[in-house]
Amino acid sequence: MRKKIVAGNWKMNTDIESGVSLAKNIVSNLANELCDCEKIGVAIAPPFTQLYAVAQAVDIEKICLTAQNCAAEAKGAYTGEVSAQMLKAIGCRAVIIGHSERRAYYNETNEILFKKVKLVLENGMKPIFCCGEILAERNENKHFQVIKNQLDEVIFKLSYEDFNNIIIAYEPVWAIGTGLNATQEQAQEIHAYIRSLIAEKYGNEMAENRSILYGGSCNAANAKDLFANKDVDGGLIGGASLKAEDFLKIINSF
Ligand code: PGA
Repeated sequence: MRKKIVAGNWKMNTDIESGVSLAKNIVSNLANELCDCEKIGVAIAPPFTQLYAVAQAVDIEKICLTAQNCAAEAKGAYTGEVSAQMLKAIGCRAVIIGHSERRAYYNETNEILFKKVKLVLENGMKPIFCCGEILAERNENKHFQVIKNQLDEVIFKLSYEDFNNIIIAYEPVWAIGTGLNATQEQAQEIHAYIRSLIAEKYGNEMAENRSILYGGSCNAANAKDLFANKDVDGGLIGGASLKAEDFLKIINSF
């Protein structure tokens, strides 16, 4: 059975004090059965500067410490970058790669994303790979093709073994931070489509085992409906992950 995952993407919010307090609040209120990272995975992705403090403050066996990004190179003269190896060394188990904000504001191309995905995998962590269309693409009915290209040009270039460690997040860009979430039907349609593409490329067993998360204005009020879809295996949560109470409600929505 594939794993259910709820991941909180804190983006460029919180400071060390509020970040540590948010992490502690989440971990101390997680039911025991949710603390098993091998079953239901609860992940939090604080900003880089808070990762170490959070790793010291909470039991990171209970929660999957995740980074929001990493460098596309392994090491060396890349001023301002943070490598996958550095993230692994402070206890991260996953890295968000290809978030639409990074694609749009930092010109991250599929070529760059492929390099990042490879480095995350080489360092024994899991990429949470984001894909999704902008509103104009959906309105022109191009969303299936857009998503297929994003997968083809990055994670579908991976070997079977590597792909086995991929978590996918479908995040329609028009739903991110807008309060406009995809409907249950829209989410299920795309998740089933992504799973069918995985089956075509890597076979049914792989498709059945990959977790595909929904992201985009997922909150405590709509998570239950979204997660009820058979191909939605959890969520990548932005705004609603900044309040422990809301995030915990989302975690308990399965
Ligand atoms: P949102 O963000 O939940 O605030 O819409 C989701 C994301 O960007 O991962």
